[in-house]
Amino acid sequence: MKINILSKKEFLNSVYNNTEDFIERIEKPEAFIVKRFYNEDVITQIRNRTFENGQKSEPSWHPCFDGCPDFHRIHNNYPNAHVKAIMHAYYHHGYYESNDDLFEYFSEIFDIKNFLAGTPKGSYIKNIPSEFFIARVNIHNYPRGGGYQMPHVDPVSKFAKIQTIVQASKWQSDFSSGGVYACLEKDGTRFYIDPHTEVGDLIVLSPNIIHGVEEIDKEETIDWEINSGRWMIMPIIIHSDYESNMNVKPKEVL
Ligand SMILES: [Fe+2]
Repeated sequence: MKINILSKKEFLNSVYNNTEDFIERIEKPEAFIVKRFYNEDVITQIRNRTFENGQKSEPSWHPCFDGCPDFHRIHNNYPNAHVKAIMHAYYHHGYYESNDDLFEYFSEIFDIKNFLAGTPKGSYIKNIPSEFFIARVNIHNYPRGGGYQMPHVDPVSKFAKIQTIVQASKWQSDFSSGGVYACLEKDGTRFYIDPHTEVGDLIVLSPNIIHGVEEIDKEETIDWEINSGRWMIMPIIIHSDYESNMNVKPKEVL
């Protein structure tokens, strides 16, 4: 798989001025790593604040209906999960004013998603679940000691023509083995993405490519109270849990 390493300027130019070619390359599929899309210190602060807030409150889970609060949840091989994983996930919703700064900070990613969907800038950010599509900033932490996510594909929709993952960990310092990979086919070779990245880089892949997180430092023991392992920040527009006939859930690939 071709992994393109670009500057932010080159990437934005490709998205906005060479859109057809960009989408063709995503669908091929090629991966893109955009160097220093975000400031390393700000991303680290967001990660640290998320971790600290998580330590101060109990994990819980809430379906995505109106009134769904921001929450965080420990996934520990939950048998009914669409995609099995061991991770601590934190969910932030665009409809809460208290998240305005966070969503403003990631607005360039939401702008790209709206642009590729053909919808006006700022669409969906403030939506509530009964409007079907909502904006979230999801933050995942795959802990050292075996944090992972099974290989899977995500649904491609108008709002998810690309998946955008902000690197929030230092490879070889927060963790040394495992991490994000993509495969070209079911039994295909894993292409490891993390060795090409630094904190603040943006990873861009087709949602439709088989991808996952290989066990993070599996020889260690998990400690949910340590801020290390593989952290990622994903600004995303998703379908709420109100019923629809769309294919909206990710699917494991065995
Ligand atoms: Fe995914």
